[in-house]
Amino acid sequence: MTVTLPDDAPATLGEAFARINSVTAPTITDLKVMVLVEAAGQTLYEKSAEAAGHPRVKELLIENGHEEMKHARRAAEVIKLLTGEDFPAPAAADNPYLTGHIPVAAITPEGLRKTAESEFAGEKLYESWAASVDNDAAAELLRANGREETDHANRLLEAAALLEG
Ligand SMILES: [Fe+2]
Ligand SMILES: [Fe+2]
Repeated sequence: MTVTLPDDAPATLGEAFARINSVTAPTITDLKVMVLVEAAGQTLYEKSAEAAGHPRVKELLIENGHEEMKHARRAAEVIKLLTGEDFPAPAAADNPYLTGHIPVAAITPEGLRKTAESEFAGEKLYESWAASVDNDAAAELLRANGREETDHANRLLEAAALLEG
């Protein structure tokens, strides 16, 4: 069943990305939006992988996607630690941010580099969220996500280099 969005959550994936990227100290709603956006991230990477012709590039995109779902689960754990509430990462079919248009980044060196920039920005975002949270275990989960966003960016740069041959 589709997850019900909190009343004060953005309605679409694009707005959800804009919201979390503008927040430095998250509310619980922001953390829930992050669970959904990260879970959607797996689908976005899978769609990109389908569009990619180069087998290694496909693999790199799938690896990133797999980790985005891990990030969603960690963000859910953060919510649990801070509030005791269960807000599990949904499967794609139950994710309200995957009901509309699903944007797929261009599988070109430029497109991949642009996505790499958002991934590097993701690490900074998680670092600020971790610094704002008054719970060491929750902060560490957010930092673990952040470190992997840097790995994602580096995989994308590797993929861009592969396409340039
Ligand atoms: Fe992520
Ligand atoms: Fe990522």
